[in-house]
Amino acid sequence: MITILTIIFVTLLSSSHVLAKTDDGTARTPPMGFLSYTAFDTDTDCDRYPNSCINEQLYKEMADRLVADGFADLGYRYVNVDDRWMEKDRDANRRLVADRKRFPSGIKGLADYMHSKGLLLGIYGDIGNLTCSGTLPGQNNHNTGERDFFDIDAQTFAEWGVDSFKQDGCYEDVKKYDQLYPRMGDELNKTGRHILFTCEWPFFQYVLGGIHPDYAAISRTCHTYRNYKDVLDSWASIDEIIKYYGDYNDEFIKYSGPGHFADPDELTIGNSGLSYDQSRTQMAMWSVWSSPLLISTDLRKLRPEYKAILQNRELIAVNQDRHGIMAKMVYRDNDHQIWVKPMEPVIGGQWSYAVVYLHKRPMGHPIYMSKTVSELIPDVKDNTKYEVHDLFLDDGKEILGTVGKNDRLELLVRPSGSVRMVKLVVK
Ligand code: GLA
Repeated sequence: MITILTIIFVTLLSSSHVLAKTDDGTARTPPMGFLSYTAFDTDTDCDRYPNSCINEQLYKEMADRLVADGFADLGYRYVNVDDRWMEKDRDANRRLVADRKRFPSGIKGLADYMHSKGLLLGIYGDIGNLTCSGTLPGQNNHNTGERDFFDIDAQTFAEWGVDSFKQDGCYEDVKKYDQLYPRMGDELNKTGRHILFTCEWPFFQYVLGGIHPDYAAISRTCHTYRNYKDVLDSWASIDEIIKYYGDYNDEFIKYSGPGHFADPDELTIGNSGLSYDQSRTQMAMWSVWSSPLLISTDLRKLRPEYKAILQNRELIAVNQDRHGIMAKMVYRDNDHQIWVKPMEPVIGGQWSYAVVYLHKRPMGHPIYMSKTVSELIPDVKDNTKYEVHDLFLDDGKEILGTVGKNDRLELLVRPSGSVRMVKLVVK
């Protein structure tokens, strides 16, 4: 009897799928929304900067714009608060308190506001003692030797109705992240509320700490994970991020999929630092990488051409493809790159593909970039045909032609960080 029971038990154990935190149904496609950091930093001087300091009014006004200007209908639903939303001291029950002057309705009030508009609220914290701005409380507590606050903070966020939690990685020993981030994930899980968990584990551990991150564990714990430096409002920063994603492409592809996406940080489109073409490039790359699309610009002042980039339905569809695959870099030299992302429609086992041609040389006239279909899609079948859809309509029409295995996909691309982006739709 014991033997039979043991066999049944062992069989049950081995056949049962251990659910990761990130299998909880949250972020089946990359999250979309707004995050304040690059555009608004952590300025708290509301007397001098009443329209751009970190306060509840800022997030409410961004929410209003998301809804009124058509972003929410396209999927941009998270409104994410960043650093410096909280008071320096916890309350008598050790709970975090929103800054009383700048967030008079509290985070619960702000979450209610977002939910009343069909939006979601994200909040910010830090795995260490202090948040990254250096003076406000994180989830840990080394100074006093008292208990840490992982459980209390997770419960508080759930009670407030928070939908997403960004946990930064300052003021902590990066060697402990393999234990600490999963613990926070567990505490969020225990609340029973679906809270998207976004962490900076691989960025701090690898780029700053030199320890190769355990991406398998990270992708089980964090729905999205920042793996590189803070994005800045400049082409140099975008170019550096694109290089990094190229360098580690094989590794990142393995750990990108529904429920867990690599996060190259915010979209800086609409600010001062990127040209129109470079803005298209950021949107194209973030789309083929299946990365979170988190807008960081003042939506009250967004120019129409940048709004059009952020609202390009074809690119959003590439980003939101249900398979959540990260593009493969199939070609790179100093001045050019080509990225290919498999996606729907899939017909008879044959996939469709989004393709980005990137031309970086900062001078000269537009040049033709050209590859055969078999160079882009190494396992293409002899008879498969693809209709070529121009996702930015650069030639003024949607369908550019039909190509098969030995045909060339040749596109004229402007210089200085510009892209052409097409979709090869399987026929
Ligand atoms: C770190 C993070 C940023 C931002 C700031 C806030 O630098 O990487 O994304 O949250 O902290 O202080």
